[in-house]
Amino acid sequence: MVEPKVNDLMERIVALCKRRGLIFQSSEIYGGINGFWDYGPLGAELKRNIKDRWWQTMTRWRDDVVGLDATIIMHPRIWEASGHATTFADPMVDCLLTRKRFRADQIDPQSGMAYHFAGAQNAGKRCDDAYSVLLAPGKNPESARKVARQFYQQRGLAEPELLGERTEKVENSTRYNPENGSLLTEPRQFNLMFKTYVGPVENVENMAYLRPETAQAIFAQFKNVLEVSRQRVPFGICQIGKAFRNEINPRNFTFRSREFEQMELEFFIRPDEAVEAVCGQVARPAGPGHPGEPQANWGWQIWHQYWVEERLRFYENIGLPRASLVEYWQKPEELAHYARATVDILYKFPFSKRDASGELMGEELEGIAARSDFDLSQHQRFSGKAMGVFDEELKAAWPKLEEGRKSELTKRYFEARLKYLVKTGEPAEKAERQAREEAAGLAKGYYVPHVIEPSAGVDRLALALICNAYCEDQAPDEHGKLESRVVMRFHPRIAPVKVAVFPLLKNKPELVKKALAVRDMLRPHLAVFYDEAGAIGRRYRRQDEAGTPFGITIDFDTLGERGEDLKDTVTLRDRDTMKQDRVKINDLPRVLLEKIR
Ligand code: GAP
Repeated sequence: MVEPKVNDLMERIVALCKRRGLIFQSSEIYGGINGFWDYGPLGAELKRNIKDRWWQTMTRWRDDVVGLDATIIMHPRIWEASGHATTFADPMVDCLLTRKRFRADQIDPQSGMAYHFAGAQNAGKRCDDAYSVLLAPGKNPESARKVARQFYQQRGLAEPELLGERTEKVENSTRYNPENGSLLTEPRQFNLMFKTYVGPVENVENMAYLRPETAQAIFAQFKNVLEVSRQRVPFGICQIGKAFRNEINPRNFTFRSREFEQMELEFFIRPDEAVEAVCGQVARPAGPGHPGEPQANWGWQIWHQYWVEERLRFYENIGLPRASLVEYWQKPEELAHYARATVDILYKFPFSKRDASGELMGEELEGIAARSDFDLSQHQRFSGKAMGVFDEELKAAWPKLEEGRKSELTKRYFEARLKYLVKTGEPAEKAERQAREEAAGLAKGYYVPHVIEPSAGVDRLALALICNAYCEDQAPDEHGKLESRVVMRFHPRIAPVKVAVFPLLKNKPELVKKALAVRDMLRPHLAVFYDEAGAIGRRYRRQDEAGTPFGITIDFDTLGERGEDLKDTVTLRDRDTMKQDRVKINDLPRVLLEKIR
């Protein structure tokens, strides 16, 4: 049940997460449960800060995005419409010896000599199950035979005599267990959705799924939200919530979990044909970088670029340096059939693979997909409810177009809709009739919106922020002697605790009283931690390890014992520079909020 050790740095990070109450193994007292993690006091604050920042950035600070908070269990038809019921599966293989399960597409190719056996016999008993073991170059063939004997022992032969041995050179095979060379089963598709039953009767009619993504609820509630929010396309609906995937092989600490949280935005845009009809032309990306404030003439490409850049800005804003991120454009063969483009934002985790030059390649934090009108079209088809919108501006613009332009736009829209309908398996004649109707609808101002989807994981981001913050360095103790410290350099915006308040001595009631007053004054504004136990240097170290960016010490100067000038001032220590400034108590909220904003 315990995670494999990935590398030294990761081991130290995992240890710190437990020691400081960032992340614990779920159900640890019972030996843990693979793929599930709990967030301790500091982790819970970190996650909350991540989600709050995302929510502020994605909806509260924008006019064109509204929020949703939907249920985890939804009507099972939703997952038929989305394709999850049939295609949300990973290829799974089992080790024929240990029964350990792997994702077939995650097995590194191996080369060596395969030892094939036709069977084995012992004391008049015989087993005719064929079996193979891959022997790495330079290893003793006896070790392959030893593995094979274990296999036949499991099939009831106490001291198996191996039969029909033959060897074969194997290159880049993924058919063998990388840990012991044993042959694996043939890959089988395994649907990753967790099943449950709604109500007391456990039968097929009552079966439901824990959502594997939050996005589908947004599509299912699209019309309701549109009606009540007074939004018009282009606009977005965002949601934060739990998602569940029965991952075959959870790994890399929290990176691939079975229960996790997502932060998803579905940003609905006009199809390019409607943009062209309204604005005369479709603006496309002029070059790399942020395209600036949204414009009415943007087509899907520039909207997609906009969201990629917005999301990169978000990560930089909470302290992930640009150099730690990779913008990966999926290749055409990697794209889902309905997607026009997908950019994955990767973070260079310590456990990421390295390229030929030794550079970390990164692992996915977020995907930003241009998903065409697939999702709403699917829900329209499966629910029988119209998911299209009426666009007043389009209706007004259409009659003013030249005839040639009208027929060109109609043709393009017709072809796109026909392609979708044919792909869904509609009979050709019906698909053509429907596509023609929909293209005629465009001229009257109707269309199914397209969507750009930035979809991020809270837990992966928390892990990236933890890895990024982790730092071992040297700092002077209270006597000025250098000692090693672990410091979590969380950006103040997402740091679990923003400021720690310390009375210099805990046995001086005047200092304690003042420190408690400072704590209470700051509490309504930010997360404060009060600590009076131990030498002040040790208290600083504890907060460095917790990633608290600022420390306030109330000393005898604060009480005015060294003159009126310093009375009611405190020292404000910066975790990273370790610089200490004297600040008036009344200025603390302003000074701190400026640093944290
Ligand atoms: N609606 C699109 C969607 O769900 P995804 O790439 O499957 O796309 C989006 O998931 C994000 O959710 C990922 O980029 C990742 O951050 C997070 N995520 C997905 N599976 C996860 C898992 N097993 N454990 C932790 N986070 C996961």
